[in-house]
Amino acid sequence: MNKMEPVLRVRDVWKSYGDLEVLKGISFDVMESEVKVVFGPSGSGKSTLLRCINYLDPPDRGDVFLRGVRLGEKDTDINEMRARIGMVFQHFNLFAHLRAIDNVAIGPEKVLGLSKEDARQRAMAALEHVKMADWADHYPAQLSGGQQQRVGIARALAMEPDVILFDEPTSALDPELIGEVLQVMLDLAKEGTTMVVVTHEMGFARAVANEMIFIDGGVVVERGTPEHFFRGADSERVRQFLHKLEELYGKEREELRDVDGE
Ligand SMILES: Nc1ncnc2c1ncn2[C@@H]1O[C@H](COP(=O)(O)OP(=O)(O)O)[C@@H](O)[C@H]1O
Ligand SMILES: [Mg+2]
Repeated sequence: MNKMEPVLRVRDVWKSYGDLEVLKGISFDVMESEVKVVFGPSGSGKSTLLRCINYLDPPDRGDVFLRGVRLGEKDTDINEMRARIGMVFQHFNLFAHLRAIDNVAIGPEKVLGLSKEDARQRAMAALEHVKMADWADHYPAQLSGGQQQRVGIARALAMEPDVILFDEPTSALDPELIGEVLQVMLDLAKEGTTMVVVTHEMGFARAVANEMIFIDGGVVVERGTPEHFFRGADSERVRQFLHKLEELYGKEREELRDVDGE
């Protein structure tokens, strides 16, 4: 494996819905074990960007490469490529009629073709990873939002993807449940999981992001390290947005402050 080759390369991605131009040329690379945080106002195209990256909604123009292989290339199997890109959704998207373990095992079994037993073992390991093994036999409705989202993360992990995309994974959660999900994500980041995270949790970004990308109106307005943004962004628009986030979410969450020993 070539360590210098990006795991994910997003090149000049454009996407419109009818007359509405949502993405207007987004580019970035994600290297092995990197955490990329994407943030920006509601409606700026963040979810669309993630859907373009995994080809749930193919871009109109531009390219996405996974370890050097272009998605949508004639000779590539898009389903096989997509299986290597994990996705964690805002609203968990678990199957209501399946127990936690089966929600996690179904991908490895149906998509990767593992035997029932192997898929189950892998699912159990993934549930252990997010500290949900004790809840394996529960249905989603029997779990809190934070627990459901941890199952959502386990479902992505069980596929052993090259990269995991998170679309505002904590924004549908009650405040007291956000911490347990962020903690799992922090642990994954520290273990070297390659991640693209759409989030407004700036404490998380500060703790583990290699780069933060602010998008608005379908373009990258500003990008840089967390230090860059928290010292004071170049763009007035970004500074205002960060200020508003601070008012909305309060200062960084206490549980994240210890991460760099602050
Ligand atoms: N499938 C779709 N059809 C039409 N418009 C869409 C579709 N998906 C998103 N949009 C529009 O694209 C814009 C960006 O949406 P989205 O990517 O969800 O933004 P964000 O995730 O940053 O809030 C919004 O104006 C939204 O209404
Ligand atoms: Mg969104």
